[in-house]
Amino acid sequence: MGDLKGRDLLSILDLSREEIEQIFHLAKNLKLEYYAGKRIHDYLKGKTVALFFEKPSTRTRISFEVGVHQLGGYPLYLNAQEMQLKRGETIADTARVLERYVDGIMARVYSHDTLVELAQYSRIPVINGLSDLEHPCQVIADYFTIIEKKGFKKLKVVYLGDGNNVANSLILAGVMLGMNVVCSSPKEFMPPKKVLEEALVLAKRYGGSIEIIEDPKEAVKDADVLYTDVWVSMGQEDEKEIRRRVLPPYQLNKELLSLAKEDAIVMHCLPAHRGEEITDEVMDGPNSVVFDEAENRLHVQKAIMALLI
Ligand code: CP
Ligand code: NVA
Repeated sequence: MGDLKGRDLLSILDLSREEIEQIFHLAKNLKLEYYAGKRIHDYLKGKTVALFFEKPSTRTRISFEVGVHQLGGYPLYLNAQEMQLKRGETIADTARVLERYVDGIMARVYSHDTLVELAQYSRIPVINGLSDLEHPCQVIADYFTIIEKKGFKKLKVVYLGDGNNVANSLILAGVMLGMNVVCSSPKEFMPPKKVLEEALVLAKRYGGSIEIIEDPKEAVKDADVLYTDVWVSMGQEDEKEIRRRVLPPYQLNKELLSLAKEDAIVMHCLPAHRGEEITDEVMDGPNSVVFDEAENRLHVQKAIMALLI
């Protein structure tokens, strides 16, 4: 098992399966301790973590901010719009300055290349809090939730809708954990070919599988987990018309849910656009675990930070 201290987490591909399991293990303990009344730890005592945002956030900002506090550190919220970046200072120079003040950076960015640059020009760990390519902290919390609900076994995990950042991380982590992952997206919005190729290699290595099934009714048959995300991600507002035209067959509604296993769980990274990718009935129904999923961001990211920073 590799030592995670000092490492970056930009992509699921930065971790091995053992390291993901190491995160689950610590997250489980931190969650148990939290419920037993021990909320404050020393993992980040005396340390500062910069929380850098180019885009809006509710869950990521709050769970990281509260998480750093609970690990004994200081969370420094940075809005890119209010920094000298806005007046042309480069990401590379910003990274070189940040490393002189803080012990780690969590960053939510438009372009994944911005994360790569932050990591390249600073010697402190950089954690991806969502880029256009991946959302690794989200899906580690998602699989932690899946295992909590279903146990650690081979499950059929079906992603419905836009082949976006969340889908990419969900596919990569899923095959690494030995799951049978199915992605059901329209031709126009499939996950990138490179991600699917990587997933095939990882599936072979770890014993999972990845299948693309364009027809959502076919895809959800006997699913253990149904997962969806918004049709228009942050930064894609220009494409909203075409997306709203092509994606409706992938709406997670009671018809699609009825084709999955009876005890299938329904997941969504949130925020949801109710009435678009998911109906109220399904999101608020008995199969939905979306708020447990959101809660687990806190416990899992605490584990990630305790191990990396
Ligand atoms: N799921 C997620 O990352 O939510 P926020 O955009 O609210 O951070
Ligand atoms: N795919 C969404 C996820 C939000 C948490 C987006 O990038 O906007």
